[in-house]
Amino acid sequence: MHFTLQPGGNLKGEARVPGDKSISHRAIMLGALAEGTSRVNGFLEGEDALATLAAFRAMGVQIEGPVDGCVTVHGVGLHGLRAPDQPLDLGNAGTGMRLLCGLLAGQPFDTELTGDASLCSRPMGRVIEPLTRMGARIESAAGGRPPLAIRGGQRLRGIHYDLPMASAQVKSCCLLAGLYSEGETSVTEPAPTRDHTERMLRGFGYPVQSVNGEISLQGGGSLVACDIEVPADISSATFFLVGASIAPGSDLLLSHVGINPTRIGVINILQLMGADISLQNQREVGGEPVADIRVRYAPLHGVEIPADQVPLAIDEFPALFIAAACAQGRTVLHGAEELRVKESDRIAAMAAGLTTLGVRNTVLDDGIVIEGGPMGAGTIHTYNDHRIAMSFAIAALRAEGEITVRDCGHVATSFPGFDVLARRLGLRISAVAD
Ligand code: S3P
Repeated sequence: MHFTLQPGGNLKGEARVPGDKSISHRAIMLGALAEGTSRVNGFLEGEDALATLAAFRAMGVQIEGPVDGCVTVHGVGLHGLRAPDQPLDLGNAGTGMRLLCGLLAGQPFDTELTGDASLCSRPMGRVIEPLTRMGARIESAAGGRPPLAIRGGQRLRGIHYDLPMASAQVKSCCLLAGLYSEGETSVTEPAPTRDHTERMLRGFGYPVQSVNGEISLQGGGSLVACDIEVPADISSATFFLVGASIAPGSDLLLSHVGINPTRIGVINILQLMGADISLQNQREVGGEPVADIRVRYAPLHGVEIPADQVPLAIDEFPALFIAAACAQGRTVLHGAEELRVKESDRIAAMAAGLTTLGVRNTVLDDGIVIEGGPMGAGTIHTYNDHRIAMSFAIAALRAEGEITVRDCGHVATSFPGFDVLARRLGLRISAVAD
Protein backbone atom coordinates (compact mmCIF):
# COMPACT_ATOMS: atom_id res chain seq x y z
CA MET A 1 0.00 0.00 0.00
CA HIS A 2 1.17 3.53 -0.72
CA PHE A 3 -0.19 7.02 -0.09
CA THR A 4 -0.57 9.72 -2.68
CA LEU A 5 -0.99 13.24 -1.40
CA GLN A 6 -2.10 16.37 -3.17
CA PRO A 7 -0.45 19.50 -1.82
CA GLY A 8 -2.07 22.14 0.36
CA GLY A 9 -5.22 22.22 2.48
CA ASN A 10 -5.52 22.44 6.23
CA LEU A 11 -6.85 20.44 9.18
CA LYS A 12 -10.15 21.27 10.88
CA GLY A 13 -12.60 19.56 13.19
CA GLU A 14 -12.51 17.21 16.15
CA ALA A 15 -11.08 13.72 16.46
CA ARG A 16 -10.04 11.06 18.92
CA VAL A 17 -6.98 9.19 17.65
CA PRO A 18 -6.54 5.47 18.53
CA GLY A 19 -5.43 4.23 21.94
CA ASP A 20 -1.93 4.52 23.34
CA LYS A 21 0.36 1.79 22.05
CA SER A 22 2.63 1.62 25.11
CA ILE A 23 -0.31 1.42 27.51
CA SER A 24 -2.17 -1.13 25.34
CA HIS A 25 0.81 -3.55 25.39
CA ARG A 26 1.14 -3.22 29.15
CA ALA A 27 -2.61 -3.62 29.76
CA ILE A 28 -2.56 -7.05 28.11
CA MET A 29 0.61 -8.14 29.88
CA LEU A 30 -0.37 -7.09 33.39
CA GLY A 31 -3.99 -8.14 32.89
CA ALA A 32 -2.77 -11.62 31.91
CA LEU A 33 -0.51 -11.89 34.97
CA ALA A 34 -3.15 -10.62 37.41
CA GLU A 35 -5.51 -12.64 39.57
CA GLY A 36 -9.02 -12.06 38.22
CA THR A 37 -10.60 -10.41 35.19
CA SER A 38 -9.48 -7.03 33.82
CA ARG A 39 -11.48 -4.97 31.34
CA VAL A 40 -9.58 -2.68 29.00
CA ASN A 41 -11.29 0.17 27.15
CA GLY A 42 -9.74 2.25 24.38
CA PHE A 43 -7.31 -0.57 23.48
CA LEU A 44 -5.26 0.10 20.34
CA GLU A 45 -6.38 -2.39 17.70
CA GLY A 46 -3.09 -1.95 15.85
CA GLU A 47 -0.87 -4.81 14.75
CA ASP A 48 1.76 -4.27 17.47
CA ALA A 49 -0.61 -4.52 20.43
CA LEU A 50 -2.53 -7.33 18.71
CA ALA A 51 0.71 -9.31 18.44
CA THR A 52 1.16 -9.02 22.21
CA LEU A 53 -2.45 -10.11 22.70
CA ALA A 54 -1.90 -13.14 20.45
CA ALA A 55 1.28 -14.05 22.36
CA PHE A 56 -0.64 -14.26 25.65
CA ARG A 57 -3.42 -16.27 24.05
CA ALA A 58 -0.73 -18.66 22.85
CA MET A 59 0.39 -18.97 26.49
CA GLY A 60 -3.08 -20.05 27.57
CA VAL A 61 -4.63 -16.73 28.62
CA GLN A 62 -8.28 -16.35 27.72
CA ILE A 63 -8.83 -12.95 26.15
CA GLU A 64 -12.12 -11.69 24.68
CA GLY A 65 -12.13 -9.01 21.99
CA PRO A 66 -11.04 -6.56 20.93
CA VAL A 67 -14.48 -5.25 20.02
CA ASP A 68 -14.58 -1.47 19.57
CA GLY A 69 -11.50 -1.11 21.72
CA CYS A 70 -12.85 -3.32 24.54
CA VAL A 71 -10.80 -6.29 25.68
CA THR A 72 -11.50 -8.61 28.59
CA VAL A 73 -8.45 -10.39 29.97
CA HIS A 74 -8.96 -13.38 32.26
CA GLY A 75 -5.77 -13.23 34.27
CA VAL A 76 -3.96 -16.45 35.16
CA GLY A 77 -1.79 -15.02 37.95
CA LEU A 78 1.99 -14.53 37.87
CA HIS A 79 2.59 -18.29 37.74
CA GLY A 80 -0.27 -19.39 35.47
CA LEU A 81 1.18 -18.98 31.95
CA ARG A 82 1.57 -22.13 29.83
CA ALA A 83 4.34 -22.98 27.37
CA PRO A 84 3.35 -21.86 23.85
CA ASP A 85 3.37 -24.52 21.10
CA GLN A 86 5.28 -22.30 18.69
CA PRO A 87 7.67 -19.34 18.71
CA LEU A 88 5.92 -16.12 19.71
CA ASP A 89 5.88 -13.71 16.77
CA LEU A 90 5.86 -10.09 17.93
CA GLY A 91 5.68 -8.69 14.40
CA ASN A 92 7.11 -5.16 14.28
CA ALA A 93 6.87 -4.50 18.01
CA GLY A 94 10.03 -3.69 19.97
CA THR A 95 7.95 -3.00 23.08
CA GLY A 96 6.23 -6.38 22.86
CA MET A 97 9.51 -8.25 22.49
CA ARG A 98 11.60 -6.38 25.07
CA LEU A 99 8.95 -6.40 27.79
CA LEU A 100 8.14 -10.06 27.15
CA CYS A 101 11.83 -10.97 27.52
CA GLY A 102 11.65 -9.73 31.11
CA LEU A 103 8.63 -11.69 32.12
CA LEU A 104 9.47 -14.83 30.13
CA ALA A 105 12.93 -15.00 31.73
CA GLY A 106 11.11 -15.87 34.96
CA GLN A 107 8.87 -18.67 33.61
CA PRO A 108 9.38 -22.40 34.20
CA PHE A 109 9.19 -23.12 30.42
CA ASP A 110 11.33 -22.28 27.36
CA THR A 111 10.14 -19.75 24.77
CA GLU A 112 11.32 -18.45 21.43
CA LEU A 113 10.63 -14.91 20.32
CA THR A 114 10.72 -13.71 16.74
CA GLY A 115 9.42 -10.84 14.63
CA ASP A 116 9.44 -9.21 11.20
CA ALA A 117 12.58 -8.14 9.31
CA SER A 118 12.69 -4.75 11.06
CA LEU A 119 12.33 -6.22 14.56
CA CYS A 120 14.89 -8.94 13.77
CA SER A 121 17.43 -6.22 12.97
CA ARG A 122 16.97 -4.37 16.28
CA PRO A 123 19.33 -4.69 19.25
CA MET A 124 18.20 -6.97 22.09
CA GLY A 125 21.59 -7.04 23.87
CA ARG A 126 20.28 -4.12 25.92
CA VAL A 127 17.76 -6.44 27.61
CA ILE A 128 19.83 -9.65 27.47
CA GLU A 129 22.60 -7.96 29.47
CA PRO A 130 20.64 -7.06 32.64
CA LEU A 131 18.52 -10.22 32.46
CA THR A 132 21.65 -12.38 32.30
CA ARG A 133 22.96 -10.60 35.38
CA MET A 134 19.69 -11.52 37.10
CA GLY A 135 20.31 -15.18 36.27
CA ALA A 136 18.35 -15.54 33.00
CA ARG A 137 19.59 -17.65 30.08
CA ILE A 138 18.88 -16.10 26.69
CA GLU A 139 20.38 -16.98 23.31
CA SER A 140 20.17 -14.64 20.33
CA ALA A 141 21.17 -14.51 16.68
CA ALA A 142 24.41 -12.71 15.80
CA GLY A 143 24.88 -9.27 17.34
CA GLY A 144 22.22 -9.79 20.02
CA ARG A 145 19.45 -9.71 17.38
CA PRO A 146 16.22 -11.79 17.40
CA PRO A 147 15.16 -14.54 17.17
CA LEU A 148 15.70 -15.14 20.87
CA ALA A 149 15.56 -18.40 22.81
CA ILE A 150 14.74 -17.91 26.48
CA ARG A 151 15.50 -20.87 28.72
CA GLY A 152 12.93 -21.35 31.45
CA GLY A 153 13.38 -22.70 34.96
CA GLN A 154 16.13 -20.28 35.98
CA ARG A 155 16.26 -18.77 39.46
CA LEU A 156 16.30 -14.99 39.09
CA ARG A 157 17.90 -12.64 41.63
CA GLY A 158 17.05 -8.97 41.99
CA ILE A 159 19.85 -6.60 40.94
CA HIS A 160 20.44 -2.89 40.73
CA TYR A 161 20.81 -1.85 37.10
CA ASP A 162 22.05 1.54 35.98
CA LEU A 163 20.54 1.87 32.49
CA PRO A 164 23.21 2.87 29.94
CA MET A 165 20.56 4.49 27.70
CA ALA A 166 17.26 6.26 28.37
CA SER A 167 14.94 3.37 27.48
CA ALA A 168 11.53 2.65 28.97
CA GLN A 169 11.59 -0.75 27.31
CA VAL A 170 14.78 -1.80 29.11
CA LYS A 171 13.54 -0.32 32.40
CA SER A 172 10.21 -2.15 32.05
CA CYS A 173 11.91 -5.40 31.09
CA CYS A 174 14.00 -5.30 34.29
CA LEU A 175 10.98 -4.47 36.45
CA LEU A 176 8.90 -7.30 34.94
CA ALA A 177 11.74 -9.77 35.53
CA GLY A 178 11.89 -8.32 39.05
CA LEU A 179 8.37 -9.64 39.70
CA TYR A 180 9.89 -13.14 39.43
CA SER A 181 13.15 -12.41 41.25
CA GLU A 182 14.35 -12.92 44.79
CA GLY A 183 14.65 -9.67 46.70
CA GLU A 184 14.73 -6.17 45.30
CA THR A 185 15.15 -5.12 41.67
CA SER A 186 16.03 -1.49 41.11
CA VAL A 187 16.96 0.66 38.12
CA THR A 188 18.23 4.16 37.56
CA GLU A 189 17.98 5.85 34.17
CA PRO A 190 20.16 8.56 32.61
CA ALA A 191 17.00 10.63 31.98
CA PRO A 192 13.35 10.07 32.87
CA THR A 193 11.51 7.87 30.36
CA ARG A 194 7.84 6.95 30.02
CA ASP A 195 6.61 5.54 33.33
CA HIS A 196 3.52 3.59 32.22
CA THR A 197 4.85 0.30 33.64
CA GLU A 198 5.35 1.78 37.10
CA ARG A 199 1.94 3.49 37.06
CA MET A 200 0.12 0.40 35.83
CA LEU A 201 1.85 -1.98 38.26
CA ARG A 202 0.62 0.29 41.08
CA GLY A 203 -2.85 0.27 39.48
CA PHE A 204 -2.76 -3.55 39.73
CA GLY A 205 -1.89 -3.21 43.43
CA TYR A 206 1.83 -4.00 43.11
CA PRO A 207 4.03 -1.64 45.15
CA VAL A 208 6.69 0.18 43.10
CA GLN A 209 8.94 2.85 44.64
CA SER A 210 10.30 5.81 42.71
CA VAL A 211 12.73 7.76 44.91
CA ASN A 212 15.29 10.26 43.61
CA GLY A 213 15.28 8.71 40.15
CA GLU A 214 15.63 5.11 41.41
CA ILE A 215 12.71 2.80 40.64
CA SER A 216 12.42 -0.40 42.64
CA LEU A 217 10.16 -3.29 43.50
CA GLN A 218 10.32 -6.54 45.50
CA GLY A 219 9.77 -9.90 43.84
CA GLY A 220 7.23 -12.42 44.96
CA GLY A 221 4.05 -10.32 45.17
CA SER A 222 0.88 -10.61 43.13
CA LEU A 223 -1.24 -8.46 40.82
CA VAL A 224 -4.94 -7.85 41.38
CA ALA A 225 -7.11 -7.44 38.26
CA CYS A 226 -8.38 -3.94 37.50
CA ASP A 227 -10.11 -2.02 34.74
CA ILE A 228 -8.02 0.12 32.42
CA GLU A 229 -9.01 3.14 30.37
CA VAL A 230 -6.43 3.64 27.61
CA PRO A 231 -6.09 7.30 26.57
CA ALA A 232 -5.62 8.33 22.93
CA ASP A 233 -1.97 8.03 21.91
CA ILE A 234 -0.07 11.35 22.00
CA SER A 235 2.35 9.79 19.50
CA SER A 236 -0.52 9.38 17.00
CA ALA A 237 -1.98 12.79 17.88
CA THR A 238 1.44 14.23 17.02
CA PHE A 239 0.86 13.97 13.26
CA PHE A 240 -2.16 16.25 13.61
CA LEU A 241 -0.46 18.57 16.13
CA VAL A 242 2.28 19.14 13.57
CA GLY A 243 -0.09 19.16 10.57
CA ALA A 244 -2.36 21.82 12.09
CA SER A 245 0.64 23.87 13.24
CA ILE A 246 2.12 24.07 9.72
CA ALA A 247 -1.05 24.52 7.61
CA PRO A 248 -2.57 28.04 7.60
CA GLY A 249 -6.26 28.09 8.55
CA SER A 250 -6.06 24.88 10.65
CA ASP A 251 -8.02 24.53 13.89
CA LEU A 252 -8.30 21.09 15.50
CA LEU A 253 -9.51 19.61 18.76
CA LEU A 254 -7.98 16.24 19.65
CA SER A 255 -9.89 14.62 22.47
CA HIS A 256 -8.87 12.43 25.41
CA VAL A 257 -5.13 12.47 24.63
CA GLY A 258 -2.70 11.04 27.19
CA ILE A 259 -0.48 13.84 28.51
CA ASN A 260 1.71 11.85 30.88
CA PRO A 261 4.61 14.23 31.75
CA THR A 262 7.07 11.63 30.40
CA ARG A 263 5.43 11.84 26.95
CA ILE A 264 4.77 15.55 26.33
CA GLY A 265 8.09 16.58 24.82
CA VAL A 266 6.33 17.09 21.48
CA ILE A 267 4.02 19.72 22.97
CA ASN A 268 6.88 21.46 24.77
CA ILE A 269 9.05 21.51 21.62
CA LEU A 270 6.25 22.70 19.32
CA GLN A 271 5.34 25.47 21.79
CA LEU A 272 9.00 26.49 21.91
CA MET A 273 8.83 26.76 18.11
CA GLY A 274 5.84 29.11 18.40
CA ALA A 275 2.95 26.64 18.02
CA ASP A 276 -0.54 27.56 19.26
CA ILE A 277 -1.43 24.53 21.38
CA SER A 278 -3.62 24.58 24.47
CA LEU A 279 -4.63 21.82 26.86
CA GLN A 280 -8.27 21.79 27.89
CA ASN A 281 -10.32 19.77 30.35
CA GLN A 282 -7.27 18.23 32.04
CA ARG A 283 -8.20 15.23 34.14
CA GLU A 284 -6.82 11.92 35.42
CA VAL A 285 -8.24 8.68 34.01
CA GLY A 286 -7.09 5.36 35.45
CA GLY A 287 -3.82 6.74 36.79
CA GLU A 288 -2.84 8.56 33.58
CA PRO A 289 -3.32 12.31 32.95
CA VAL A 290 -5.50 13.12 29.92
CA ALA A 291 -6.58 16.34 28.13
CA ASP A 292 -8.34 17.63 25.05
CA ILE A 293 -5.77 19.41 22.93
CA ARG A 294 -6.62 22.40 20.75
CA VAL A 295 -4.13 23.28 18.04
CA ARG A 296 -4.33 26.14 15.56
CA TYR A 297 -1.99 27.22 12.81
CA ALA A 298 0.87 29.49 13.90
CA PRO A 299 4.10 30.43 12.14
CA LEU A 300 6.93 28.32 13.56
CA HIS A 301 10.59 29.20 14.04
CA GLY A 302 13.60 26.91 14.31
CA VAL A 303 14.98 25.99 17.75
CA GLU A 304 17.81 24.15 19.44
CA ILE A 305 15.92 21.22 20.92
CA PRO A 306 16.58 21.14 24.69
CA ALA A 307 18.44 17.96 25.71
CA ASP A 308 15.97 17.20 28.51
CA GLN A 309 13.09 17.04 26.02
CA VAL A 310 14.71 14.37 23.81
CA PRO A 311 13.62 11.23 25.75
CA LEU A 312 10.19 12.81 26.29
CA ALA A 313 9.63 13.16 22.52
CA ILE A 314 11.62 10.20 21.21
CA ASP A 315 8.86 8.76 18.99
CA GLU A 316 7.75 12.19 17.80
CA PHE A 317 10.93 13.33 16.05
CA PRO A 318 9.98 12.21 12.53
CA ALA A 319 6.92 14.51 12.67
CA LEU A 320 8.89 17.23 14.47
CA PHE A 321 11.41 17.20 11.60
CA ILE A 322 8.53 18.12 9.27
CA ALA A 323 7.64 21.00 11.63
CA ALA A 324 11.31 22.06 11.49
CA ALA A 325 11.26 21.95 7.68
CA CYS A 326 8.28 24.35 7.72
CA ALA A 327 9.76 26.66 10.37
CA GLN A 328 11.68 29.82 9.73
CA GLY A 329 15.38 29.28 10.38
CA ARG A 330 17.41 26.39 11.66
CA THR A 331 16.46 23.55 14.03
CA VAL A 332 19.22 21.57 15.73
CA LEU A 333 18.80 18.19 17.42
CA HIS A 334 21.54 16.45 19.41
CA GLY A 335 21.49 13.54 21.87
CA ALA A 336 19.01 11.47 19.85
CA GLU A 337 21.20 8.51 18.79
CA GLU A 338 18.37 6.20 19.93
CA LEU A 339 16.52 7.26 16.76
CA ARG A 340 18.98 5.14 14.79
CA VAL A 341 17.66 1.89 16.33
CA LYS A 342 13.90 2.41 16.05
CA GLU A 343 11.68 0.66 13.47
CA SER A 344 14.12 2.20 10.97
CA ASP A 345 17.17 4.45 11.32
CA ARG A 346 14.89 7.45 11.68
CA ILE A 347 17.64 10.04 11.26
CA ALA A 348 18.75 8.55 7.94
CA ALA A 349 15.21 7.84 6.71
CA MET A 350 13.93 11.35 7.49
CA ALA A 351 17.06 13.02 6.09
CA ALA A 352 16.65 11.12 2.81
CA GLY A 353 12.98 12.11 2.49
CA LEU A 354 13.64 15.75 3.41
CA THR A 355 16.41 15.89 0.80
CA THR A 356 13.99 14.47 -1.81
CA LEU A 357 11.62 17.34 -1.01
CA GLY A 358 14.44 19.88 -1.30
CA VAL A 359 14.78 20.62 2.43
CA ARG A 360 18.40 21.30 3.36
CA ASN A 361 19.63 19.18 6.24
CA THR A 362 22.85 17.90 7.78
CA VAL A 363 22.93 14.48 9.41
CA LEU A 364 24.79 14.19 12.72
CA ASP A 365 25.73 10.98 14.54
CA ASP A 366 23.22 11.78 17.27
CA GLY A 367 20.77 14.07 15.51
CA ILE A 368 20.22 16.42 12.60
CA VAL A 369 20.27 20.07 11.54
CA ILE A 370 17.29 21.16 9.44
CA GLU A 371 17.00 24.47 7.58
CA GLY A 372 13.40 25.56 7.21
CA GLY A 373 12.33 26.42 3.66
CA PRO A 374 9.99 25.47 0.84
CA MET A 375 9.11 21.80 0.40
CA GLY A 376 8.85 20.48 -3.14
CA ALA A 377 7.37 17.21 -4.33
CA GLY A 378 8.54 13.66 -4.90
CA THR A 379 8.50 10.01 -3.94
CA ILE A 380 9.39 9.11 -0.37
CA HIS A 381 10.68 5.78 0.94
CA THR A 382 9.51 4.84 4.42
CA TYR A 383 11.87 1.89 5.07
CA ASN A 384 8.68 0.17 6.28
CA ASP A 385 8.48 2.53 9.26
CA HIS A 386 4.97 3.69 10.21
CA ARG A 387 6.08 7.01 11.67
CA ILE A 388 8.15 7.94 8.59
CA ALA A 389 5.08 7.27 6.42
CA MET A 390 2.70 9.43 8.47
CA SER A 391 5.25 12.24 8.85
CA PHE A 392 5.68 12.66 5.10
CA ALA A 393 1.92 12.37 4.59
CA ILE A 394 1.33 15.49 6.71
CA ALA A 395 4.24 17.25 4.97
CA ALA A 396 1.93 17.48 1.94
CA LEU A 397 0.00 20.25 3.72
CA ARG A 398 2.94 22.55 2.92
CA ALA A 399 4.44 20.88 -0.16
CA GLU A 400 4.49 22.52 -3.59
CA GLY A 401 3.51 19.39 -5.52
CA GLU A 402 2.28 15.82 -5.19
CA ILE A 403 3.97 13.51 -2.69
CA THR A 404 3.94 9.73 -3.05
CA VAL A 405 4.79 7.81 0.12
CA ARG A 406 5.76 4.23 -0.71
CA ASP A 407 5.36 1.17 1.56
CA CYS A 408 2.76 2.42 4.02
CA GLY A 409 1.40 -0.97 5.18
CA HIS A 410 3.16 -0.63 8.54
CA VAL A 411 1.02 2.40 9.44
CA ALA A 412 -1.46 -0.17 10.81
CA THR A 413 1.04 -1.18 13.50
CA SER A 414 0.25 1.98 15.48
CA PHE A 415 -2.50 3.92 13.68
CA PRO A 416 -5.09 1.80 11.88
CA GLY A 417 -7.36 4.07 9.83
CA PHE A 418 -4.87 6.95 9.67
CA ASP A 419 -5.69 7.80 6.05
CA VAL A 420 -9.46 7.79 6.65
CA LEU A 421 -9.22 10.06 9.71
CA ALA A 422 -6.65 12.35 8.11
CA ARG A 423 -8.86 12.75 5.01
CA ARG A 424 -11.87 13.61 7.18
CA LEU A 425 -9.82 16.34 8.89
CA GLY A 426 -8.67 17.81 5.57
CA LEU A 427 -5.51 16.03 4.38
CA ARG A 428 -5.69 15.35 0.63
CA ILE A 429 -4.61 11.72 1.00
CA SER A 430 -5.46 8.55 -0.93
CA ALA A 431 -4.34 5.08 0.10
CA VAL A 432 -3.59 2.95 -2.95
CA ALA A 433 -3.08 -0.83 -2.90
CA ASP A 434 0.16 -1.83 -4.68
C1 S3P B 1 8.30 2.38 24.39
C2 S3P B 1 9.53 2.95 24.67
C3 S3P B 1 10.33 3.66 23.68
C4 S3P B 1 9.52 4.04 22.46
C5 S3P B 1 8.65 2.92 21.98
C6 S3P B 1 7.68 2.49 23.05
C7 S3P B 1 7.57 1.68 25.46
O1 S3P B 1 11.38 2.81 23.25
O2 S3P B 1 10.36 4.47 21.41
O3 S3P B 1 7.91 3.31 20.83
O4 S3P B 1 6.37 1.42 25.29
O5 S3P B 1 8.19 1.39 26.50
P1 S3P B 1 12.80 2.76 24.04
O6 S3P B 1 12.55 2.25 25.37
O7 S3P B 1 13.65 1.85 23.20
O8 S3P B 1 13.29 4.18 24.03
